[in-house]
Amino acid sequence: MVDGHNGPILELKGVSKHFGAVKALVNVDFEVRAGEVMALVGDNGAGKSTLVKGIAGIYPYDEGEIIFEGRPVSIHGPADTADLGIEIVYQDLALADNLDVVANMFLGREEIRVPFRLNESVMEKRTRETLHSLSVTTLRSVRQAVAGLSGGQRQAVAVAKAVMWNSKVVILDEPTAALGVAQTRQVLDLVTRLADRGLAVVIISHNLHDIFEVAHRITVLRLGQRVALYEAAQSNQQEVVEAITAGTIETVPGMAK
Ligand SMILES: Nc1ncnc2c1ncn2[C@@H]1O[C@H](COP(=O)(O)OP(=O)(O)O)[C@@H](O)[C@H]1O
Ligand SMILES: [Mg+2]
Repeated sequence: MVDGHNGPILELKGVSKHFGAVKALVNVDFEVRAGEVMALVGDNGAGKSTLVKGIAGIYPYDEGEIIFEGRPVSIHGPADTADLGIEIVYQDLALADNLDVVANMFLGREEIRVPFRLNESVMEKRTRETLHSLSVTTLRSVRQAVAGLSGGQRQAVAVAKAVMWNSKVVILDEPTAALGVAQTRQVLDLVTRLADRGLAVVIISHNLHDIFEVAHRITVLRLGQRVALYEAAQSNQQEVVEAITAGTIETVPGMAK
């Protein structure tokens, strides 16, 4: 880590955000370490996406601190987030359907990180190498348009983009919500590989089975507050459901019977 820093790579301290009268986040602490998969769970409206959008610089927090590699940082927009090495993959992916895989891998980054124009064959090679290194083997061609990809393949391209640009933190907001079983499997495997490479991964999901399969720790938000933080190995689905719902319901989709 930079300067021997070995605490969490990304930390939020006491972040709050309101939209009019709605308190979307109230004094929330959150952290993720390099090499760790941190799950972020909570019911609809709990504040998960708002937390991510604060990191993304889309809706800056009203209060609180963002600490990156041990230093306070200010994030005023998505370019600041990208500059820090934080990549956010949204459910409705920001991929350009009409462009091919290679073009998407370089889209929006050329002017930020590449001070010269790369030629097509270099771009194609880097794309192929990155996908290969992540064992993404289901793409027919890196020259196929993204519109023709399955949901799982789209997620894979978005995640590979993060890896190719040397991101240190990857945040996935509901990456498997629209996916079938086999595609979900691919994305979860990819999440594990990212953490094995030393990236910090934050994954938002409603599926506790998936969460317990990949996450090292689990942060629970309820009504904009952090109500629990678990070590996955020392917790269970029942306990997490109770934290999510304050004990008002006992099962959620994906829960072990
Ligand atoms: N742009 C916005 N304008 C107004 N209210 C918002 C906005 N974004 C989120 N909210 C509100 O903030 C709360 C948290 O929403 P969100 O972070 O999307 O929850 P989650 O992702 O956990 O489902 C909800 O009450 C939601 O309606
Ligand atoms: Mg959300």
